[in-house]
Amino acid sequence: MIAMEAGGARQLKVCVIGAGAMGSLFGGYLSAAGHEVWLVDTATGHADAIARQGLRIVEPNGEERVVRPRAVTDPRSVGPCDLVLVFVKSYHTRQAAASLAPLLAPSTVVLTLQNGLGNVDALAEEVPRSHLMAGTTGQGANVLGAGRIHHAGSGETLIGELDGAPTDRLRCLVEAFTDAGLHASASNNVQGVIWAKLLVNIAINPLTAILRVRNGRLLEMPEAVEIMKEAVDEGLAVASRAGVRVPLEDPWAHVRDVARRTGDNRSSMLQDVEMGRQTEIDVINGAVVREGSRLGVATPVNLALMHLVKCLEQIPLISCLRA
Ligand code: PAF
Repeated sequence: MIAMEAGGARQLKVCVIGAGAMGSLFGGYLSAAGHEVWLVDTATGHADAIARQGLRIVEPNGEERVVRPRAVTDPRSVGPCDLVLVFVKSYHTRQAAASLAPLLAPSTVVLTLQNGLGNVDALAEEVPRSHLMAGTTGQGANVLGAGRIHHAGSGETLIGELDGAPTDRLRCLVEAFTDAGLHASASNNVQGVIWAKLLVNIAINPLTAILRVRNGRLLEMPEAVEIMKEAVDEGLAVASRAGVRVPLEDPWAHVRDVARRTGDNRSSMLQDVEMGRQTEIDVINGAVVREGSRLGVATPVNLALMHLVKCLEQIPLISCLRA
């Protein structure tokens, strides 16, 4: 397992699978903190730009800095790692999982901080569960161009073992992330943490994508707020029927608070729609609909949001922009 040393975590060899905005942000911060970081991204332009001139991170205060992780397009060139950080879009998780074997040593941790439900199970199809850890992050980022990202805002990263155990490797990762400036905490209820993030995503992501607005704008429209609240209530009913303990005192207040704190963000789903990319709707509202139907809980609002986003995915980008 990842070793703790006196004075904290040793230098880790880290491979980030999926170096979009969030993967690049985490890889960039860990690299700046002295860890050996490899970013793997199939978009050759981004990987080439980072390999040539470093990764440029524009911080929330406008300052720009350059960090120098390695960047490649094929994980086979990396070799075994201490930590594999999975940040691909959820519909690529299975494919990413199948490429991880060359990165795994007996002690390698594979950590997913992806949005949505089902990523752990998709990874577990190829990677023994003993390697897997999961969590969520409140960091926000977007890609400005090849080799350049915008750090839109900081937020807490929560990480946990699948069985909730307080292991040394968990402490080590929390410490490595926090030392690198990515404020992190350990959780003994990672399933609940993933659901808590899911409640945020089912309320904010589809509506920002459908209405083409930043997160904070939703709160200024009473009709949007009503839909958000209904989607969250359905999500909570499904979580409760599934026996998940969502670690939030007031989930609806939390969702509103995230929308307010990330008010200037363009949600990941809005970014996907604007770029003409497939969205993660299937593992966000789609996951609530699927779980609801499995457990006999009605989820009409989540179903409607899912259908609307699926319609958006079918409208070519140019007509979207004209609409
Ligand atoms: O997917 C996203 O964009 C983020 O998870 C969140 C929290 C909605 C902030 O933009």
